[in-house]
Amino acid sequence: MTVFLVILAYLLGSIPFALIVGKIGYGIDIREHGSGNLGGTNTFRVLGKKAGLIVTSADILKGTLAASLPLIFGQEDLIHPLLIGIAAVIGHTYPIFAKFKGGKAVATSAGVLLAYSPLLFIILILSFFVSLFISKYVSLSSMIAGIIGIIYSLFTGDIPLIIVISLLASFVIYRHRSNISRIINGTEPKITWMSKKKS
Ligand code: G3P
Repeated sequence: MTVFLVILAYLLGSIPFALIVGKIGYGIDIREHGSGNLGGTNTFRVLGKKAGLIVTSADILKGTLAASLPLIFGQEDLIHPLLIGIAAVIGHTYPIFAKFKGGKAVATSAGVLLAYSPLLFIILILSFFVSLFISKYVSLSSMIAGIIGIIYSLFTGDIPLIIVISLLASFVIYRHRSNISRIINGTEPKITWMSKKKS
């Protein structure tokens, strides 16, 4: 049963909503536009606000659903929701349905944490938007939210949460290596979500 749930979580995470919405809704493969990333930010950038919101919400919810699988299948004692959530984040980042080239783990990680602690999710969202308001960098704000999540978790004393959020935040930072380089050399784009543009 554990293996089945982990595989199911990975498959859920693998659903490439950015690719699906881009191709079906707009006839555009967003891997060929913007940053090329299969995530909400690039969808906002390439296809506009409506598509960006749909993809970001779907990417969050697949993480929430995956982390809820133990509860749905009555297996809470068998597998921790945060652990199975990791499988969904891996699916989102290395999706079997999109040649193993997916997103940067932000929205799906947030969705996993939403299933476990809605309060933590709210803290992450607030941290993200405060940072975004100040810096105008989505990538930087995603990483800062992850670091604030780690700090919050330390105060909870919840060991599984501390371990998993540290892993997820580290993975998010690892996946943003190219963004970090661009921030340092001043070429990382700042948010221009209100405009619908292709690059
Ligand atoms: O969630 C991904 C975001 O932080 C950066 O995406 O497309 O600007 O590389 P992108």
